[in-house]
Amino acid sequence: MMQSTSHVAIIMDGNGRWAEARGLPRAAGHREGVAAVRRTVEAALNHGIGTLTLYAFSSDNWERPPREVQWLMRLFREYLRSEANRALATGVRISVIGRRDRLPPAVASAIQEAERRTIDGTRLHLRVAVDYSGRDAILRAAQCVVPGGPVTREQFGRLLAIADHGATRTPDVDLLIRTSGEQRLSDFLLWESAYAELLFLPVLWPDFAASDLAAALQQFQGRQRRFGRISAPDGTTRRGAAVSDAVSS
Ligand code: IPE
Ligand code: IPE
Ligand code: MG
Repeated sequence: MMQSTSHVAIIMDGNGRWAEARGLPRAAGHREGVAAVRRTVEAALNHGIGTLTLYAFSSDNWERPPREVQWLMRLFREYLRSEANRALATGVRISVIGRRDRLPPAVASAIQEAERRTIDGTRLHLRVAVDYSGRDAILRAAQCVVPGGPVTREQFGRLLAIADHGATRTPDVDLLIRTSGEQRLSDFLLWESAYAELLFLPVLWPDFAASDLAAALQQFQGRQRRFGRISAPDGTTRRGAAVSDAVSS
């Protein structure tokens, strides 16, 4: 079990290559990608993950062919409509982060509706990033800073969450997974991932299974997070005795 406070973020990449490998149109890969999202949300619930942020559409993805963009927008709308009921039943709160003003109105209203209906969900906070850019989010938050006023990291983090429609504070990312073998952030959660553990998996997103998430969490448990210190903040090291013990003996 993960701690209920833990935040897992996933860059769901490889839908197009999955389809191309089968001689199918890219749209088929995106449709299978939605099935992988459903599996992953269920698996996240089983592992007790507190927050799951999924990168569904980056602000740079508007540069794709209009047909593909339209198809993706249609899939979001359908997903949000069909998932709200399931989310209600399973205690999942759905939020969407990113810009709303460029989305088709039907998508924007499906988002509002899903957020409104699931707001009381407490088991898992599912955040879907649509028209999302980490740099734009930071810029928008910076524009909310009051001139002359002091801003702590904590306060800025709250501004960032508000600017992103996250409404509350966004927890830092503990584990960031990217599928499809690419090893880059592509403008995802730049501020929030300052100390995230990064995991790049070769699996293409439509093939991502509950067992992949389980294996990823297992790897994460084996990582030693030091946050700049020479041992983990609780004084433990993964191998052998705590560093503080060695120093004091
Ligand atoms: C990820 O898959 C989904 C989106 C970016 C919307 P891609 O569509 O990027 O798939 P590849 O990278 O072309 O295989
Ligand atoms: C990042 O994937 C965005 C999402 C997964 C939604 P891309 O496929 O768009 O990223 P690049 O272009 O390979 O960096
Ligand atoms: Mg891609």
